[in-house]
Amino acid sequence: MSRKSLYDGGNGVSNETPETRDALSNLLREERRFPPPPAVAESANVTAAAYDEADADRLGFWKAQADRLSWAVEPTETLDWSNAPFAKWFADGKLNVAYNCVDRHVEAGLGDRVAIHWEGEPGDSRAVTYAELQREVSRAANALTEMGVQAGDRVAIYLPMIPEAVVSMLACARIGAPHSVVFGGFSADAVASRIQDADARVVITADGGYRRGKPSALKPAIDDALASCPDVRNVLVVRRTGEDVAWTEGRDVWWHDAVGNASDTHTPEAFDAEHPLFILYTSGTTGKPKGILHTSGGYLTQASYTHWAVFDLKPETDVYWCTADIGWVTGHSYIVYGPLANGATQVMYEGTPDTPHQGRWWEVVQKYGVSILYTAPTAIRTCMKWGDDIPAKFDLSSLRVLGSVGEPINPEAWIWYRKNIGGDRCPIVDTWWQTETGAMMISPLPGVTATKPGSAQRALPGISAEVVDDNAAPVPNGGGGYLVLNEPWPSMLRTIWGDDERFKDTYWSRWEGLYFAGDGAKKDEDGDIWLLGRVDDVMLVSGHNISTTEVESALVSHPKVAESAVVGAADATTGQAIVAFVILRGSAAEEPGIVDELRNHVGATLGPIAKPKKVMIVEELPKTRSGKIMRRLLRDVAENRELGDVQTLTDASVMSLIQAKLPTAA
Ligand code: WT7
Repeated sequence: MSRKSLYDGGNGVSNETPETRDALSNLLREERRFPPPPAVAESANVTAAAYDEADADRLGFWKAQADRLSWAVEPTETLDWSNAPFAKWFADGKLNVAYNCVDRHVEAGLGDRVAIHWEGEPGDSRAVTYAELQREVSRAANALTEMGVQAGDRVAIYLPMIPEAVVSMLACARIGAPHSVVFGGFSADAVASRIQDADARVVITADGGYRRGKPSALKPAIDDALASCPDVRNVLVVRRTGEDVAWTEGRDVWWHDAVGNASDTHTPEAFDAEHPLFILYTSGTTGKPKGILHTSGGYLTQASYTHWAVFDLKPETDVYWCTADIGWVTGHSYIVYGPLANGATQVMYEGTPDTPHQGRWWEVVQKYGVSILYTAPTAIRTCMKWGDDIPAKFDLSSLRVLGSVGEPINPEAWIWYRKNIGGDRCPIVDTWWQTETGAMMISPLPGVTATKPGSAQRALPGISAEVVDDNAAPVPNGGGGYLVLNEPWPSMLRTIWGDDERFKDTYWSRWEGLYFAGDGAKKDEDGDIWLLGRVDDVMLVSGHNISTTEVESALVSHPKVAESAVVGAADATTGQAIVAFVILRGSAAEEPGIVDELRNHVGATLGPIAKPKKVMIVEELPKTRSGKIMRRLLRDVAENRELGDVQTLTDASVMSLIQAKLPTAA
């Protein structure tokens, strides 16, 4: 194992001792290996040869993947990088994205295949076949056209997890109107600023959706938001909960009237491969939200290829379920565009995982025979906290591949997922990507990779990633630095909506020709990549760079810990001091001595330098609505500052609970 694998963001400080160097290479000491199950390897969609093939001719590889799609005009060009970093992929090709996701499957005789097994939170359900989806998308496309929406016009979508959300996105794609989906949990202000930035003229929403056992209204937020969006002409409203809504005559239109009465046939028009498909605002923990722009041909090619390759999708037999919300990029690429382009059958669930009971997800897996499950580490750690006995009550034997996305997955959470959900048999694919990358970039392949708990491992075929130091030099195996992407990829963001300068500045200005992802990473002795979280989340303690992810993983490896968040707080002696916020597992009560026990555990696992100065036992952690821990707020608490902006928090009361704990923390 490495002797110099300490994550060193390149500050060159060398006052480390052999023990601390060693100690901090903990993640890289993870030696458990899980080779692909022979049954998966034998019938895998993708074999190891794909890497060599793509290395030998990267553009040829992507050109071949574009053949997965039906083009109205076949592209002859692959990549135009002459105006870098503004890329054009398949630029002389033309296609209709909705046709690719729906109609072509019906034309191929698959109209009766279920596209979406939808499960409402109250227990109502609907199965939508590809033929029905074609009729619904056609109706919605006709209704939007009737409202004056033309190719290029932006449409904002603010919906719960109901089939109409998928139908709306595809209807926009069908008429070439870029959508901007805003997560249903965002406030009126957040919606307003996104509508204004995208200059949307039509909004699609619902009276509400079901969350935590009761109706949760959506339309009031739109009514509020539109007070500051005078250019919105129409609001199309889906009736889901049946609750009363305020109504603005002339502006508001019921979905069941406008869409319900529209013709169910519609001829899709072919658009340029570079026609804008959607804008999606990043949930970012700081700064004005960035409208990430994705276009059509390259995006759909990579979404489709990765969904098929990384999940080893067999569309005839698999039942796929991605638990994300369509308000996030995961929902765009791996609920809507990737799976539907591939003709998959999938589950879509409206509500929260603990309604009406903490086994709801596993009940859904059992009910529909889900074979591929894609979820986030935060959800896995929550299930760990609820206890192993809950998933154990359900038949999860239909599962064959498990996926993870959104943040680094701690080795212990990975192992828990494999054992308690995957029956110690399913390969786990830990997929690294971003809103900006549009699709998966770094991930194991289930039939090829011997997986390592906690590592996303290797760039996918056709993708090129590197870990570099401050001077953009690749670090040797065993070293750490910044994750960059050093070749363009088909589903890359094309710009930040309305702000080309900010696009160049944010992603391309740090080093010539390299896309800066903003994540810290390490390479192990095999050259496999381990993500360490956002670079802003790396702490500097007595001259040592220590990643929050590493200390969190050490804490979660203690049997009494379910979840933890670690921050660096300003400290007069050490520069920064490590402060840990810890949630204990269901059965582990808060006992005297637990704080010392946990500090010592980190010391023993990682070395004395990584021992948290403070450990605070809490009930909940502050998270963004996409499940990312808001370390910025925890740093405010740890440094006794007034809290910064809490707007994007799922539950703002969490912070008062944590602050109430303060006096006892030591
Ligand atoms: C950031 C992007 C990709 C869809 C959901 C998040 C972190 C994402 C992983 C992973 C370690 C990960 C990174 C990245 N991240 N997946 N498998 N391992 N970190 O999209 O909101 O744009 O966030 O999420 O820090 O930069 P996003």
